[in-house]
Amino acid sequence: MAGISVDIRKKGFAFTLRTDQWWVEPALVMFGFTAFVVYSTWAAFQAQFYWYSNGAEGFGGYLSPMYSPLVFINETAKGAAPVHHAWFGTFPSWWPSFLPASPAFLIVAFPLLFRFTCYYYRKAYYRAFAGSPPACAVGAVSQKPYKGETGLLIFQNLHRYALYFAVIFIFILSYDGVMAFFRDGKFGVGVGSMVLLINPILLGSYTFGCHSFRHLVGGQMDCMSCNKFRYGTWKKVTFLNERHQLFAWMSLIWVGFTDVYVRMVSMGVWTDFSTWGN
Ligand code: FES
Repeated sequence: MAGISVDIRKKGFAFTLRTDQWWVEPALVMFGFTAFVVYSTWAAFQAQFYWYSNGAEGFGGYLSPMYSPLVFINETAKGAAPVHHAWFGTFPSWWPSFLPASPAFLIVAFPLLFRFTCYYYRKAYYRAFAGSPPACAVGAVSQKPYKGETGLLIFQNLHRYALYFAVIFIFILSYDGVMAFFRDGKFGVGVGSMVLLINPILLGSYTFGCHSFRHLVGGQMDCMSCNKFRYGTWKKVTFLNERHQLFAWMSLIWVGFTDVYVRMVSMGVWTDFSTWGN
């Protein structure tokens, strides 16, 4: 059968011979990213209702992952954690007065950098926001070749370093997950305990499926199967890597939902059913 040759680059934005719903994925990505960025920015500026322990001051409680770890705390804010949960106590006097004293501002750069430079997300936001091209075999916004991967190359290379911080965050958020099973030092289970436990599991599935992590555990070896431990780890990482897009979205959505959950119970809008009796 004779083939058809069409230079789609010259045909303008969104021109394609594809007959499938190619625009659905970039549209969903655009909607998902925009919704998350708007919500997380709003949540960070709130600087309150990020903690719930039903008034208990001892070990345990629910902490929103958007505020963890707590470097400094403004203990006078509504729904704030007790000050002994902060690494360095209350907010210092040099904190700029135009910014709300929000613990979220002190940690946001790390997950943001990790996600922004992620190989999967790069593909997703280049297509959804830059439209160069919006999908395979679809006309691009501009006739000029896209320079995102070359112009931003050094910045995007920070991903391998951002990975180390992301791994540290998995341990911190896992600690928060364990802390959610305690209130005033007493073990129990609440709906929030499960929400906070699922969070690092999904984040870990995303982080440990990272392409850089896969290279870290399996790269630079001439004989992979000679090192049983590294080869076995590489196969597990590959399993996660093959589902990287899935875990990228599941973990992103769950982080947002966990913040919503903690915020709602902290505000008294939702009831946290638990073995502690709420
Ligand atoms: S490639 Fe996606 S997190 Fe590293």
